[in-house]
Amino acid sequence: MDTPRLLRTLAGERTSRPPIWLMRQAGRYLPEYRALRATTPDFIAFCLDPKKAAEATLQPMRRFPLDGAIVFADILLIPRALGQDVWFEAGEGPRLGALPELGVLRDHIEQVAEALSPVGETLSRVRTALEPDRALLGFAGAPWTVLTYMLEGRSSDRTAARTAAYADPERIDALLNVLVEATWRYLAMQAKAGAQVLVLFESWAEGLSEDLFQRLVVEPHRRLIDRLRQAGVTTPVIGFPRGAGALVEGYAHRVDVQGVALDTQASAELGQRVQAMGKVIQGALDPLLLRAGGPALDARVDRLMEQWGDGPHIFNLGHGVLPDTPVSHVEQVIARVTGR
Ligand code: CP3
Repeated sequence: MDTPRLLRTLAGERTSRPPIWLMRQAGRYLPEYRALRATTPDFIAFCLDPKKAAEATLQPMRRFPLDGAIVFADILLIPRALGQDVWFEAGEGPRLGALPELGVLRDHIEQVAEALSPVGETLSRVRTALEPDRALLGFAGAPWTVLTYMLEGRSSDRTAARTAAYADPERIDALLNVLVEATWRYLAMQAKAGAQVLVLFESWAEGLSEDLFQRLVVEPHRRLIDRLRQAGVTTPVIGFPRGAGALVEGYAHRVDVQGVALDTQASAELGQRVQAMGKVIQGALDPLLLRAGGPALDARVDRLMEQWGDGPHIFNLGHGVLPDTPVSHVEQVIARVTGR
């Protein structure tokens, strides 16, 4: 009876309304997050403080009737656990130190779950505090997206990473494999600690040729999910190949994810075709429209529910909540979807 709506939807059940959660639902648009965050200026230290990370996870759950809580952490914890320096420059974003040798990275794989055990503790704390009818989501960055940061040392246009994928395929494939091996272990640890859904953020699937998309996105996702299932982890997975455009359909077809998150550009028909493959879709409200608000926001929410309401649909954004989004707009969308 208490089975969370989000889990019922991921199991293919049709519910009276779609479940809703929002990418980046915890974060800077919330004044209480900014206040908590100010107590630990080092962002990585904040992510690895289970008490504070659990509090950040729960802040949006107290304010809004959301159906899912996503653990507060970051995709760049994995490179750090593999021995690469990671830090955040205030107002600028992530910075990574020199990429360690392959052998050094490989030597860290077995210890990744242990090194990131604070994230497991955050999950346990949140699961204890959260009502049983609300789902808890864990996540990791997908191998290619994390590798772009490891190679480029910061947010970038990924030209160097994509060039390396053509010029030095063996090295890139070996690095992706290190990330596959580290990431499934990390996700298995999260499932054990209480995560009921696992999200794979492939934020930089955009701009890849069909060949590169297959090699850098589809194959690593397949191996990662195979490894998880072989390890006995049955937790549903939502894959988010952001910016994949028309290649999303091939992704949905070839990767054994239960849910496919669609980005802002996804058409009504694309979503319906993915639903027709037996996949649950998630998305795809534009974060810019969420920030803009007004009657156009209500109209778009209604249209998304209508166009995808004939198949399983998880209501969400097409990318994360922007920092300068008014809290009242977030309230407006959640009320429109949930009726509360
Ligand atoms: O509510 C949630 O979504 C949970 C927490 C979460 C964060 N990052 C916290 C965060 C999640 C799921 C992420 C994922 C993440 N991190 C992604 C994939 C999703 C996406 O947005 O595409 C990526 C690419 C990152 C890497 C990252 N982390 C960047 C590029 C930045 C700097 C830019 C920015 O948004 O500030 C971060 C920092 C970060 N991660 C913040 C938060 C709340 C802001 C840092 C702060 O509070 O000072």
